[in-house]
Amino acid sequence: MSDDLTRRTFVQGVAAAGALLPAASAAAEAPGRDRAADLAGTSHAAFGAPALDVVPVACAVNGEARAFDVRPAETLLDVLRDRLDLTGTKRGCGHGACGACTVTVDGTTRASCLLPATAADGREVVTIEGLSGDGLHPVQRAFLAEDALQCGFCTPGFVVEAIALYDRRRAAGLTGEPTRAEIEAALAGHLCRCGAYVGIHRAGAAACAGRYDEADPPFPRREAAEKVTGRAVYTVDVRLPGMLVGRILRSPHARARLLAVDPSGALALPGVHAVADLLHGTRRVRFAGQEILAVAADDDATARAALGRVRVEYDVLEPVVDRRDAEAAGAPPVHHVLADDWIKAAEVSVFPGPTRGNVRGPVVTTSWRPEAVPGVLRDNPVSAETYRAHAQSHAPLEPHACVAHWPGPRRLEVYVSTQSVTDVAEDLAVRFGLPREDVVVRAEHIGGAFGAKALLTMETVAAAELARVAGRPVAVVLDRAEEMVAGGYRPAVDLDLELAAGEDGPAAVRARARTMGGVAVGSVSAAMLRFPYVRGRPPKDLRDFDVFTNDSPAAPLRAPGGPQAYWALEQAVDRVAHARGVDPLALREAWDAGHLRARLYPWARTIEAWSGRGPVGAEAGRYRRGVGLAAATWFYLVEPRVRVRVSSSPDGFAVACAAQDFGNGIRTVLARALAAPLGISPGDVTVELGHSDLPIGPHSSGSRSTASVVPGVLHGLEQLLPRLRRAADRAFGGGPCTPAPGGLAGADPDDPGRVVPWSEVLARVPPLSVIGRRRPDPGGMYFPFAITGVNSGMLTTGALQCTEVEVDTRLGSVRVLRSWTGLAVGRRVAPALARSQVQGGLLMGMGYALFEERRRDPHYGFVLTRGLEDYRVPTLADVPELNIHFDDTPLESARGGLAGLAELPVVAMPASIGNALHHALGVRFHNLPLRPWAVLEALR
Ligand code: FES
Ligand code: FES
Repeated sequence: MSDDLTRRTFVQGVAAAGALLPAASAAAEAPGRDRAADLAGTSHAAFGAPALDVVPVACAVNGEARAFDVRPAETLLDVLRDRLDLTGTKRGCGHGACGACTVTVDGTTRASCLLPATAADGREVVTIEGLSGDGLHPVQRAFLAEDALQCGFCTPGFVVEAIALYDRRRAAGLTGEPTRAEIEAALAGHLCRCGAYVGIHRAGAAACAGRYDEADPPFPRREAAEKVTGRAVYTVDVRLPGMLVGRILRSPHARARLLAVDPSGALALPGVHAVADLLHGTRRVRFAGQEILAVAADDDATARAALGRVRVEYDVLEPVVDRRDAEAAGAPPVHHVLADDWIKAAEVSVFPGPTRGNVRGPVVTTSWRPEAVPGVLRDNPVSAETYRAHAQSHAPLEPHACVAHWPGPRRLEVYVSTQSVTDVAEDLAVRFGLPREDVVVRAEHIGGAFGAKALLTMETVAAAELARVAGRPVAVVLDRAEEMVAGGYRPAVDLDLELAAGEDGPAAVRARARTMGGVAVGSVSAAMLRFPYVRGRPPKDLRDFDVFTNDSPAAPLRAPGGPQAYWALEQAVDRVAHARGVDPLALREAWDAGHLRARLYPWARTIEAWSGRGPVGAEAGRYRRGVGLAAATWFYLVEPRVRVRVSSSPDGFAVACAAQDFGNGIRTVLARALAAPLGISPGDVTVELGHSDLPIGPHSSGSRSTASVVPGVLHGLEQLLPRLRRAADRAFGGGPCTPAPGGLAGADPDDPGRVVPWSEVLARVPPLSVIGRRRPDPGGMYFPFAITGVNSGMLTTGALQCTEVEVDTRLGSVRVLRSWTGLAVGRRVAPALARSQVQGGLLMGMGYALFEERRRDPHYGFVLTRGLEDYRVPTLADVPELNIHFDDTPLESARGGLAGLAELPVVAMPASIGNALHHALGVRFHNLPLRPWAVLEALR
């Protein structure tokens, strides 16, 4: 038996009974529970024992009198969500940092996660559910119309706060638009990880100015009304009869051998119903936070107390914390076996490479004539530097969550916050030895993911295992600390880059990327450098290495490997331009000839901040401004197995696909893709998604969803329309009819010139249903290497990013003032949503460069940044002026004329900031993040 936990052993559940937990299931049913179980030997802190005393509380909630007994440790948020089922109020962090739990108490906004439930006694509490009345509040209308949301998980909190601002201003007789500073101050306690801040700001301003006081406006995002009213149900909101709460016991040590695990103390606690082993046969602890076992109990407090009663004996070992430790001679191995299916930090296949000690590689996938590189480097001026890009946490506001239920011994149903209901259903079927059709996975709304919820993950296995043992539904929801520790992160990369500059492009490129993804594999940053600047087909020697450490597995994060690679490349290109004394924009334009990105240069030349910038480092004084440019390229990926059902019935047109919407707007895209050719309103299309029984949907990652489903819809329509026409010919007795905007022309024998509306047609013809496929593009050319489940089209999308920063040379802080982004991604199906998504990507790239920093203890290897108060994501006040230009020319070689765009905006932002800093200060920064102390250090 393997002693390593691999993706295969994890999915297949090898040795799931666990050598250290032989009797967990049986013990769960054992009678005789010893409350005073001896807990000696465990090093886990109990997260608070259940208090026995209760306090009566009487209050009004949304105008209704309520009375309940609460335990002193319970918060108002606990009561609202768990007792009153008012799940519109969200738990994003649980410690007052995100604002998702905001309600009003006696008219004042409060973070209900911080408020003891007892404080509500005698008060009037209003939640998002209590704000709509007979119709939407003007603030909710504004959020709809201004597309002030993506995943929507933060939205109820923002709406409650913005309504409070609106009410305060109205009470003061103010009806004008508030200042930006006023809105920032009012919404300062709120975070939106999707980065919907531009719309949020616009919505707050417009609502306060009375622009949405009257009628409900049209709005671009299909499910937005559910999100602004708190009606949208996320996995964390699912409540099933008899549902138990599951909690996971995690190792506090980064490296250890497990000697014994004894859950009998937990099982003896009244209210505990099941224990599940999560070791999957391994006895080795490889990272702090590694899952050991899970318990299911009546409530959260009991489950947490039960974890404190599990006795675990560790042989604690010195961890391998950083790259130097890992590469040192004689370093203890992080992995003990070689496996071709280690947990992945990349989105695509893990390419083969040798492993020595803790280093896997070189992985060579995209090199081109590498043997020619040394000679070219010898004979040309070379920019040779080492760049370091740090780790970035995904930090979605909805944490990893799963509710599992076994309606029968051989049928498993789960609700899960995931990026792929299809893949999770397939993996669960393998994991539990079930026919695929006996596993159902649902994901109605997902509160952010960004790549971290791409696979079958441990909370889902834990919930399913616990539910099987307990015979009752079980919910496992990670708390914020767990999410930050084990929820995933973009791996840090050290990249040695040598770039020889030729006349019309790079003469040669040599790159060595060392990726630190903890126990995960998937270094791809060097491989990325194959795709930009290919004019003249320069030789490229690109090698990737994974360096294993005792850290939790990294996960794909929006453009995996991209920001790290372009942080290096685009600064190196800048160096070449400065060394030659040429405009960096002109140099890139020359080097980019023939690329899709070339379409963006005429626009870029119109950016006045760029064309009017002064010399490098010319500014003096405390505050200095700089303007930087960077380019980016991303892949055009599609999932050929995707199927879309397109149907018609007297109720109208419908489209169904097992896709999932985590703020990417795929509901809207599906509706618009079908509505446009039919000439009907997208609102008249029924959309079904988020269910694994629907036709196979795309994995929502790799910017592949839109490019996969839209051609599927169009193929479905190609089949449906002829059948509809024939059926109409028969039903109306006219014809032959032809499709026209909004209906069929020629169907009515009495009036052949009339366009018979679709509603009339569908009322007369039988229901029809077809399956559309994502067919290969015309020409069907794909990159000639296999990538699991996806095809990569022979084009790459392009972006240009120009950024203006201001540096406070006394404090070291950097502020982005203005940003200009040009994107060439083809046609946009839902333009407003595409813009929102780009804004979010830009802010995530800005946060990566300037604010976010996942920190670990340098000696013990555990994660220090465990909450949103110490992991600093961008806020409303950080948002610069964002100017976005789309080149909407349809992509000729892509079906539907489009490619995905979620990842592209993140890629160039850090490098453009780096280049802007160089322009402002004359100093080149090699390491991310650009935190104030790093800036001050460089200035010294
Ligand atoms: Fe209360 Fe984040 S959940 S502030
Ligand atoms: Fe704000 Fe997703 S829309 S967190």
